[in-house]
Amino acid sequence: CGIVGYIGKREAYPIILNGLKRLEYRGYDSAGVAIYDGTDIQMAKTKGKVADLEAKVNRELNSKGTLGIGHTRWATHGVPNDVNSHPHYSNSGDLVIIHNGIIENYASIKKELIKRGYTFISDTDTEVLVNLIEEIKKQENVKLGKAVQLALNQVIGAYAIAVFDRKKPDEIVVAKLGSPLAIGIGDDEFFVASDATPFIEFTNNAIYLEDEEMAIIRLGREVRVRKIKSDSLVAPYIQELQLNIEQIEKGGYDHFMLKEIYEQPSVIKDTYRGRLLANEGIIKLGGLEDHIQKFVNANRIIIVACGTSWHAGLVAEYIFEDWARIPVEVEYASEFRYRNPIITEKDVVIAISQSGETADTLAAIKLAKQKGAFVYGVCNVVGSSISRETHSGTYTHAGPEIGVASTKAFTTQITVLTMIALKLAKVKGTISQANYMQHLRELELIPSHVEEALKSDEKIRAIADVFKDASNFLYLGRGYNFPVALEGALKLKEISYIHAEGYPAAEMKHGPIALIDEHMPVVVIAVNSNHYEKVVSNIEEIKARKGKIIAVVTEGDTTVKELADFIMEVPKTTETLSPLVTTIPLQLLSYYIAVMLNRNVDQPRNLAKSVTVE
Ligand code: G6P
Repeated sequence: CGIVGYIGKREAYPIILNGLKRLEYRGYDSAGVAIYDGTDIQMAKTKGKVADLEAKVNRELNSKGTLGIGHTRWATHGVPNDVNSHPHYSNSGDLVIIHNGIIENYASIKKELIKRGYTFISDTDTEVLVNLIEEIKKQENVKLGKAVQLALNQVIGAYAIAVFDRKKPDEIVVAKLGSPLAIGIGDDEFFVASDATPFIEFTNNAIYLEDEEMAIIRLGREVRVRKIKSDSLVAPYIQELQLNIEQIEKGGYDHFMLKEIYEQPSVIKDTYRGRLLANEGIIKLGGLEDHIQKFVNANRIIIVACGTSWHAGLVAEYIFEDWARIPVEVEYASEFRYRNPIITEKDVVIAISQSGETADTLAAIKLAKQKGAFVYGVCNVVGSSISRETHSGTYTHAGPEIGVASTKAFTTQITVLTMIALKLAKVKGTISQANYMQHLRELELIPSHVEEALKSDEKIRAIADVFKDASNFLYLGRGYNFPVALEGALKLKEISYIHAEGYPAAEMKHGPIALIDEHMPVVVIAVNSNHYEKVVSNIEEIKARKGKIIAVVTEGDTTVKELADFIMEVPKTTETLSPLVTTIPLQLLSYYIAVMLNRNVDQPRNLAKSVTVE
């Protein structure tokens, strides 16, 4: 979910509405706002998207006022409908709250409150929390801030909340545990949001609350930050943000996803800029230098991640084992954290996460830390929870990724992981100097290769047009390109809602081959590699069963070209680095199919960009 709030001298509603649009990537099954109009709270909420909320506000709300909060929701408790949408009132109607996260013990608190005469109109845990705050405020006769603090001490779960009282409309109280919360500090005005994008055009100064911190934001004085448990005051650390407004706008592209696909040549360069000195044969990764012995002496590396980041982890497994000769296991964070894994002090855990907020990944690294492992982060969002929770790490520097389906995060993650693997291999002496130098140079060429691969855009669009009505797709690849097949299938599923499966090409004969007939498009990654001949045989097998073959091939390929129905060419690079280029046509293919099917490419149904619930 995304939360946003404003208190100051401007009209709050336009700021909140715009902020919600920017945060919509975090969840979008319902949305709502509450504005204090000078005497009372005006509230509107609705199932659907922020645009639906906007229409509703235009129809029925006086949205004038300089204090307000808004929310865009990804349902956890209760189906997405108007009543369950946030904000939520307390029973007296004085307090109003927005909440991102889950209150796990809400049922028992709710029971207790019902005994005391409270009534509930929604199924949400949030409505329970706001009434708990109200009850404590009344019983203990304390101010809002204190009541919030006492209430949160009774709560088990995760939250980022913002709450205000219509009887004291000069303050907003916010708190954080598990879900991110940033406070933007302007000139006699304050912003609250899940990330800095809603207020970036107003201020560059922000405080990011830490877990178990709360803040009282009152007009006319400095923000006061406290530890929720110990009650001690914390001197707030005001960060200067590097983000700019161009980075979070579409810049002429129809969708953020397309913009992000096209940004890859430049962001891959940003990822290795200053870190890779190919001619000198040097890789400099600040986060790694001090800890390199931990990696060198590791019994094994465990990679934990979810979704697309997990696929980047799979690519890394092949690279690390090949070059650095360190055993690697790649785990879904959600499985790892709950299966009593064996972790020792000799293990190094790498957590990969674009957002740095994925709840399962965060929990997995906390577990690994408890067991004494060294934990390294590969995150995109600077200052994110995972980047702070890890012992050290490397940022991908891909810039904000807004499209829910991840693209540039994936290729930049692989770029970082490749640099780490090369560096380790060099230090360990498990790679030849010639191979090391060749890969440094090849890595430097990747942005131009990606640029080249993007030139097939028109051709790929035409292929999309042929296959857009298929109901199933199979994606096949081997070796380094097996994870790319998984990622290609995931992209298609996510944004077009067409069922797709990724498979190791040779494994096809143990099952998926049964599905192949003249209606089944099969995307095969068949670039030059050690497995090339084998993949060609797999293509023959598909052809014999009348499957339609769309092949990703190396420029100039003739063998596969003869066999395939359609080809998508990519420039030649080494097999190890090939995922960085073979991914590109697959991203474009899923993008164009989704566009042709009129799907909401940037915000596919049921998905969220940042999954802060487990
Ligand atoms: C969600 C997103 C995916 C992403 C995954 C992991 O499912 O929709 O695009 O790959 O979370 O997110 P992370 O931010 O940890 O990389």
